[in-house]
Amino acid sequence: MQIENSVALVTGANRGVGRHHVAQLIEHCAARVYAASRNVDTLSETIELDPQRVVSLALDVTNTSMIEAVASTVNDVTLLINNAGSLTFGGALDVTDAGLAQDMAVNYDGLRGMTRTFAPIIESNGGGAIVNMLTLMSFISAPGFAGYNASKAAAWSMAMSLRAYLRPKDIQVINAFPAGIDTDMLAGIDAPKDNPEAVVRDILAAVVVDQEDIYPASASDVFDAWRADQKSIEAAFAEMM
Ligand SMILES: NC(=O)c1ccc[n+]([C@@H]2O[C@H](COP(=O)([O-])OP(=O)(O)OC[C@H]3O[C@@H](n4cnc5c(N)ncnc54)[C@H](OP(=O)(O)O)[C@@H]3O)[C@@H](O)[C@H]2O)c1
Repeated sequence: MQIENSVALVTGANRGVGRHHVAQLIEHCAARVYAASRNVDTLSETIELDPQRVVSLALDVTNTSMIEAVASTVNDVTLLINNAGSLTFGGALDVTDAGLAQDMAVNYDGLRGMTRTFAPIIESNGGGAIVNMLTLMSFISAPGFAGYNASKAAAWSMAMSLRAYLRPKDIQVINAFPAGIDTDMLAGIDAPKDNPEAVVRDILAAVVVDQEDIYPASASDVFDAWRADQKSIEAAFAEMM
């Protein structure tokens, strides 16, 4: 879809990848960008990117009533970026139940809840796109954050199902599978990390050409290696414990 003159909504827009989405949507000449965050007081730097076009919204993606309240005031969206994410550290046997539930609530339920509520709005505006910030860990587990992997695998599966339902409504579902990105999420983790600006640039380029699956920045090399030899890549990720 054309981003120019679109009306976008980005969840988790106060920092990290979300703020880069807002910045680059503005560069792509979106007409308006709704920047959503649990705490609107944290959105000031995002709003400053373009106070005329960036509109703040209070939104916790795990809160269904809040999603519905926001949707009732925002009826012009054509591009939804499901960016909000949660990563709890912990292996399969020691991640806390609360941490696992939080990752599922944000990464899986949040994506589905936002899509269920906003797809009819996008459809009523003539169609558009939904971008889901997934991860290579949707299909290659890093054992040190087992809950995150599981929640993103579930989100990937749900997103593929949603795609089949939304395509006839002229809503493209675009799934992004980045490698590690240099944001707060992986702060303190010693691993190769992509620049968030480069990751978002590749993702929005995919939106413009209706590319359904995107492996931005260094993720494309990892994905190619995984396709060539899945067990070797699984073993390499297992080393990251
Ligand atoms: N960083 C990576 O290595 C990496 C790699 C692949 C994919 N991704 C994905 O890219 C997306 C953005 O990640 P990031 O690196 O920018 O992470 P981040 O720096 O940790 O930021 C996470 C964002 O999600 C928001 N969020 C968390 N829970 C929320 C909730 N219940 N409702 C609304 N917003 C919520 C946070 O808001 P608060 O400020 O209120 O906490 C924050 O804005 C995520 O989906 C992540 O899984 C990241």
